[in-house]
Amino acid sequence: MADSEVRQRKPQAENPPVTEDTAAKAKRRDDESSPLWLDILRVIAFLLVASYAMSMIFSGGETGYWNYKERPHFLRYDWWRAQLTGPQYMTPEKLAEFDGSDPSKPVLLAINGTIYDVSGGRRIYGAGGSYNHFAGVDASRAYVTGCFAEDRTPDMRGVEEMFIPVDDPEVDSHWTPQELEEMRKQELEQAKEKVHKSLKHWVDFFANHEKYVKVGYLEREPGWLEKLEKRELCKTAQKGRPKRKVPKKTPKKA
Ligand SMILES: *[C@@H]1O[C@H](CO)[C@@H](O)[C@H](O)[C@H]1NC(C)=O
Repeated sequence: MADSEVRQRKPQAENPPVTEDTAAKAKRRDDESSPLWLDILRVIAFLLVASYAMSMIFSGGETGYWNYKERPHFLRYDWWRAQLTGPQYMTPEKLAEFDGSDPSKPVLLAINGTIYDVSGGRRIYGAGGSYNHFAGVDASRAYVTGCFAEDRTPDMRGVEEMFIPVDDPEVDSHWTPQELEEMRKQELEQAKEKVHKSLKHWVDFFANHEKYVKVGYLEREPGWLEKLEKRELCKTAQKGRPKRKVPKKTPKKA
């Protein structure tokens, strides 16, 4: 069988006059070879479309669309996509994947539990950027305390201390213990309000920023905050605490 095949083929291959057969072969060669480059083209096209679609799905026009980010929200695909698909819910672990270390992924951050796509500011929020500490995490505490590296946490417990005047026995001796207690209560209330305002400033900053798009919300297990160890106020914030002012009307000679 094999022998007869060889014998049959040989003459054909060496015999140009069989024109019909040669043409058919050439055609077959074409049929066989064209899919190769066509496949390469198809793969390239697929990759292009897929990468475009992925970037759109994940965050909106990151790859090769730097200027795209400068447009107002309503002119941007990712904004419309966010409006149409509704909010995404992410665990802190998932959010951490978008800290800017992977150039192919969008840069995300969260503030007070709300996630934003800040890819439009990759230069500052991405790897090596001065605000990279805020990427891939809800670092609400750091926005208020200013301790970027230490306070990459949403735990706001005790932050109000930074706005509470430092106790100073000499200064505090100008008030009776009762007055002082009353004053401390007020100071605490005001300090909490200041923390809220300070955080709200950044919450509003991201919500109103024309380059950043709201993606969704952080999803946390119940009781997550209580599971975290309470932290001290960071040194820089500690140093910035105000001092009580001795009231002028209080006469020292009394
Ligand atoms: C943060 O979120 C909580 C509810 O999750 C809300 O009560 C609080 O007002 C928010 N804080 C700011 C500063 O927006």
